[in-house]
Amino acid sequence: MEILIHKQLPNHKKLHPIDEGALGFGDIYTDHIFKMDYFEGKWQNPRIEPFAPFVLSPAAMVLHYSQTIFEGLKCYRHPDRKLALFRPQDNFKRLNSSAWRMAIPYLDEEFLLQATKELLKIDGDWVPSKPGSSLYIRPTVIATEPHLGVRPAKEYLFFIMLSPVGPYYPEGFAPIKIYVEDFYSRSAPGGLGEIKAGASYAGSLLATELASQKGYTQLLWLDSKTHKLVEEVGSMNMYFVIDDTIVTAPLTGTILPGITRSSVLTVAKDLGIKAEERSISIDEILETQKSGRLTESFGSGTAAVISPVGCLCYNDTVYEIGNGKIGKITQTIYDELVGIQYGLKEDTRGWVELV
Ligand SMILES: Cc1ncc(COP(=O)(O)O)c(C=O)c1O
Repeated sequence: MEILIHKQLPNHKKLHPIDEGALGFGDIYTDHIFKMDYFEGKWQNPRIEPFAPFVLSPAAMVLHYSQTIFEGLKCYRHPDRKLALFRPQDNFKRLNSSAWRMAIPYLDEEFLLQATKELLKIDGDWVPSKPGSSLYIRPTVIATEPHLGVRPAKEYLFFIMLSPVGPYYPEGFAPIKIYVEDFYSRSAPGGLGEIKAGASYAGSLLATELASQKGYTQLLWLDSKTHKLVEEVGSMNMYFVIDDTIVTAPLTGTILPGITRSSVLTVAKDLGIKAEERSISIDEILETQKSGRLTESFGSGTAAVISPVGCLCYNDTVYEIGNGKIGKITQTIYDELVGIQYGLKEDTRGWVELV
C-alpha cells in the first residue's frame, strides 16, 4: 500500500519544542502521526499527517468497551547519528497477538515496520542524542465504529505516534522502591495479562495509585489465585538474583512476554550468567533476602530498559535488597543492552534495525 504523506509546513511552529536536558517520559509528541483505517473488511488509507487531535463519535466502541491495544518500542540515535530501532518486528508480532485476543483484525507486520520507518524519516530530527534519551514509538489500535452494544467493532483506527523521552522513572538508573500487592490482581489465567490491552492497564491504576501514596514507584503483582507467586511489575518483567542465578517468572499466560525480557535472558546466557524461568513465591524471596542469598533484583521493559530494585515492601515490612545499591549482574546486563541499543557495542544478534 502506498503511504500518502501530508507534511507540516516547513516554517510551522512546533507544537512541543524539546529541551533534551529536561526530557521526562510521555508528555511531548512529534510533528507527525501515521494513521490507517479499517473498514469494509480491510486496512486502508495509510497516511502520514500533522499531529493533531482526532474527531471520534461519542459512540465509538473504544470509549465504551475498551477495544484497544498498543505497543511500545524505541528509536535510538547512534554515535554516527544513524537511527536504530531495537527488535521492532517482535513488537509488531506481539501487536498481532494482542489484536487476536481482542478480536481486532490482523495487521501486516512488514507494512507496520515500513510505516514506522517512513514516519521516522520525516520526524527523525526529534530523536534526542543525550545519553539515556530516545524516541518512544507508540503504535495503537482503537475501535472507532459508532455502536452501543457489546461485539467486536467493524471499524478501527491504527496510528503510530512518537514521543522523545528521557528516563521512565524520575530516579533514572537508580534503585526503585516496589510495593508488593497482595489484594488486587492485574490478570488471571485466560485473561488479558499476556497482551498489551488498554483495559489491563486501566485495571491496575487504583492499586498503583494507592502504593504511590505510600511512596512506592511501582507495584509487584502476585498471581490472582493464591497471591503468593510473583508475576511482574506495572510496566516491567521482574528478576531476582538468588545464589548468583537470575530467576524470573515463566510465561504462563498471565504476564507480558517482554521483548526486553527475552533480550535479558539471551544476554545472560551469552555472558555465562545462570538464568531460570520458574515460578517463585514471595515467601521464597523474603526467605532468601533474610538469609543473604538474594543479592539483587531488577525489572526490565522498553521504557526503563533495566531498573534496579532497592527494596520491596510486603505486609507493611520493608525488605532491603543488595544494601539498596545497584548489583553487579544488574549493571552487567544494563551495560550490554544499553550498549547495543545506543550502538556502542556490536549487535551480534541481529536485534538492531537501522532506519
Ligand atoms: C505489563 C508489562 N510487563 C512487561 C513489560 C516489558 O515489556 P517490553 O520489554 O516488551 O517492553 C511491559 C512494557 O511493555 C509491560 O507493560
